[in-house]
Amino acid sequence: MKDNLLNTRKAANLLGVSISTIYRMEKQGLVKSFKTPGGQRRFSENELKEYLEKSEGIVAPQTPAFYKFQTKTSLWKEEPSAPVAVIERPTRLAPAKREEVSAPTFHKIIFGDCRNMKELKDNSVHLMVTSPPYFNAPFDYSGFFKSYDEFLSLIKDFAKETFRVLAEGRIACVNCDDMLVNGEKYPIVADVTRIFVDTGFRYRDKIIWRKPEGYIRISRRSGVILQHPYPMYFYPDNIQESILIFQKGKYKYGKSDEKSKIDVFEYQKNKWYLSVWDMTNRLPLKGQENYPAAFPDELPYRLIKLFSYVGETVLDPFLGSGTTSAVARKLRRNSIGYEIDKSLLEIIKKKIGFYQKDLFGQEDTIEFINRV
Ligand SMILES: C[S@@+](CC[C@H](N)C(=O)[O-])C[C@H]1O[C@@H](n2cnc3c(N)ncnc32)[C@H](O)[C@@H]1O
Repeated sequence: MKDNLLNTRKAANLLGVSISTIYRMEKQGLVKSFKTPGGQRRFSENELKEYLEKSEGIVAPQTPAFYKFQTKTSLWKEEPSAPVAVIERPTRLAPAKREEVSAPTFHKIIFGDCRNMKELKDNSVHLMVTSPPYFNAPFDYSGFFKSYDEFLSLIKDFAKETFRVLAEGRIACVNCDDMLVNGEKYPIVADVTRIFVDTGFRYRDKIIWRKPEGYIRISRRSGVILQHPYPMYFYPDNIQESILIFQKGKYKYGKSDEKSKIDVFEYQKNKWYLSVWDMTNRLPLKGQENYPAAFPDELPYRLIKLFSYVGETVLDPFLGSGTTSAVARKLRRNSIGYEIDKSLLEIIKKKIGFYQKDLFGQEDTIEFINRV
């Protein structure tokens, strides 16, 4: 196919990013250019188009201004030694005794394969929140699975184990998204739903997680039509993921516990009541957490508050950087996380606040088990 050489401005237009962003992308090896004898950059149009085709789900580096914005919108101050009150916003909770609010929690991090959660008894977990690997997402998970069937087989095994360990009536939340790999779109949301239903779960709800446009984690495929404003060149930018909500059997309603009361002001203000949740996604930040596929704290934060009581146990079978455990701890729930990548140990420790003074002064405990 004929190839055109584009200058930096045209290349940035094609990708739908700014000129400074394309420089950053080049630095990170996401796109490449060569220099003309006069020292000017040129980009291959074919290579850029191929990148657009393959790049759903990968990080297009954003400007420092975006990073600042993300820091500002974090849910709470990252001060684990701060009083629990900061996290629980007790001014909005009905009165609860302080010693009840800060009852010790335990956290178990198991480096092992979640297809077998042998450390957990049947019906012992109150909520499952997770985000499985994004199939073979370019860059983040490229080549992780030999085939789509292998991926589906992992989902089947993890669904079965989750069903076993979850208590009757309780909820399993799976954050996932359809995935474009080498020009082929895989119906992951539909397949995960089918598998969970076939495993015995009731399909309760689907929340669409909508990300801010400026925070897009993918390159802008829609730029193709700006270059070729004709029919058939439409490739929309993906700014959503799904949160699938399943239930094991029926819940016996009736339990009330003042410490676990939902803050209805927060619920209304941040529109938790809708099936579309606007949440800012997490970008890997230099010098901070360098883990690309973490979900934002706000995702487990909402789910844990909506589907578990203080003192209960939350499971994340694909723990990654430890977000679910860290948020569970802040919300005074216990947590159990499985992860096969042992190199994430330090990231998890930092996120859960292992090294911060006084973190476990509240007698919270953490246990690491290694069976990888
Ligand atoms: C999308 S990431 C999870 C990110 C996490 N939600 C966070 O906020 O950091 C998926 C994780 O699952 C892990 N993983 C993949 N297969 C696994 C398995 N069979 N058992 C346990 N963990 C697995 C990967 O190593 C990866 O860290």
